Amino acid sequence: MKTIFSGIQPSGTITLGNYIGALRQFTELQDEYNCYFCIVDQHAITVPQDKQELRKNIKSLAALYIASGINPEKSTLFIQSEVPAHAQAGWILQCNTYIGELERMTQFKDKSDGKDAVSAGLLTYPPLMAADILLYGTDLVPVGEDQKQHLELTRDIAERFNNRYNDIFTIPEVRIPKVGARIMSLQDPVKKMSKSDQNQKAFITLLDEPKQIEKKIKSAVTDSEGIVKYDKENKPGISNLLSIYSILEGTPIQQLEERYEGKGYGDFKGDLANIVVNAIKPIQDRYYELIDSKDLDDILDKGADKANYTASKMLTKMERAVGLGRKRR
Ligand code: TYM
Repeated sequence: MKTIFSGIQPSGTITLGNYIGALRQFTELQDEYNCYFCIVDQHAITVPQDKQELRKNIKSLAALYIASGINPEKSTLFIQSEVPAHAQAGWILQCNTYIGELERMTQFKDKSDGKDAVSAGLLTYPPLMAADILLYGTDLVPVGEDQKQHLELTRDIAERFNNRYNDIFTIPEVRIPKVGARIMSLQDPVKKMSKSDQNQKAFITLLDEPKQIEKKIKSAVTDSEGIVKYDKENKPGISNLLSIYSILEGTPIQQLEERYEGKGYGDFKGDLANIVVNAIKPIQDRYYELIDSKDLDDILDKGADKANYTASKMLTKMERAVGLGRKRR
């Protein structure tokens, strides 16, 4: 059975973008693959985090993974910092990555743009991400489009390591959904929807109340033309809303355009709000059952045990390949 690895940062409550771009793919794939899904808390601290909030967000993300359909009987769900091999392997891979490669990452450029104090971790984050993936012999990494560049670098690092030391890493493929790989901000539809956006109206989280969802969709930026038509270049706002509608209802965009011909944005947005609420409501119901239950800790304990077992074996191979420590039998 082939292996999948993917991760989400607990840097806030996950958004509709994370759900559509990543989580929905995970649940579709878990029957066919040996899956590792990770709460990448060490990635989250590349930017300042409030410690109470971070702790809360870690548990909350674990519950949201399960509430969205990740079955812990089939998939391994765990917290990155509970598997020390990630940071250890990340260091080895950092030593095999060039600063120039890291400085070219668009996410680094975006996140550091205009800031005086940027942590070194923000720059060296991609080799840690490569470690996450490579430790498990991963064949496939389902992600949204914004992670494509990090995946390309992961492949380069893995190939370099295999050539320099020993051929131990599987070269992973990326899997990006055909539609919904980049859900845009509701307030500035040329920017991606992000859980760390300062403007709360720019994103919908999986834990937003129905009333909030309705308000956010109704105030989503569109254009003055009033025609429901997909045109990413000239009508990015309505095109983004059409993509969300199409994915969540399972209806092709063209059919939606026909359905709303001659109708304004008001009707369209009202219906879309219902569709989003109906998609999220069952997830929220399961989430509230899980969040304070002991089951969640048991699942994460088991996940960490399984991940530690697999990851430490690969870490030993890496250390041996590089020549770290003493020779053991
Ligand atoms: P993160 O936490 O920013 O996002 C988690 C996943 O959600 C996808 N995503 C989106 N998809 C569509 N539209 C959007 N607006 C949108 N925003 C986010 C992301 O592409 C991602 O798949 N570095 C990663 C986490 C990570 C990881 C890994 C992923 C760490 N190690 C190993 C895969 C494999 C990140 O910051 O994702």
